[in-house]
Amino acid sequence: MTDAGPSGSVHGVEVSETMLSQAAGRYRRDIATQRLSLHSGSMTQLPFADEALHGAITVNTIYFVAELDKEFGELARVMNSRGRLVIGLADPDVMAKLPFTGHGFHLRPVPDVIDKLRSAGLTVEHRQIGEHANAPHLLIAHASRETSRTTAGLDRNRLSASIERDRPTTLS
Ligand SMILES: C[S@@+](CC[C@H](N)C(=O)[O-])C[C@H]1O[C@@H](n2cnc3c(N)ncnc32)[C@H](O)[C@@H]1O
Repeated sequence: MTDAGPSGSVHGVEVSETMLSQAAGRYRRDIATQRLSLHSGSMTQLPFADEALHGAITVNTIYFVAELDKEFGELARVMNSRGRLVIGLADPDVMAKLPFTGHGFHLRPVPDVIDKLRSAGLTVEHRQIGEHANAPHLLIAHASRETSRTTAGLDRNRLSASIERDRPTTLS
């Protein structure tokens, strides 16, 4: 939340009411000052306007989403042209060895996840957190220069100023 800056706001989107209630207790001060807003909902249908967010991060969540195209389409829709989306995920080979991942987890090869991000119109940088081949992955995605929505009809400077001032960011 510190990365959102002193006047920035952060949104959390979560499908589980239990997790939302835990977050509401833990971050009650930030919620009271409207620095943090929690939303009950899914990453496949985000409660934000087009290009509303300056950044988004989601860690260890995509295994639970069957419709990854829909999720990435939504994330691409809500990111502004200078925004950055970060997806953290464990290596699928590591995950496949865990006893619980056989129960409803969607484990996908990382290149497939990258392809889906690209299909959503994003450029993707792939990093790993560690030296070994099965280290956890970070996918850092930006709106593609050629596919990012244009701001035709809008004052580009005013739009940027508004985004910079508010710097809304989402977490899950
Ligand atoms: C394994 S936890 C990860 C929590 C945290 N990001 C971390 O790494 O510790 C996965 C979380 O994603 C949430 N989740 C699953 N599907 C989701 C969806 N479609 N939209 C939003 N959140 C979802 C789950 O309810 C759960 O709280």
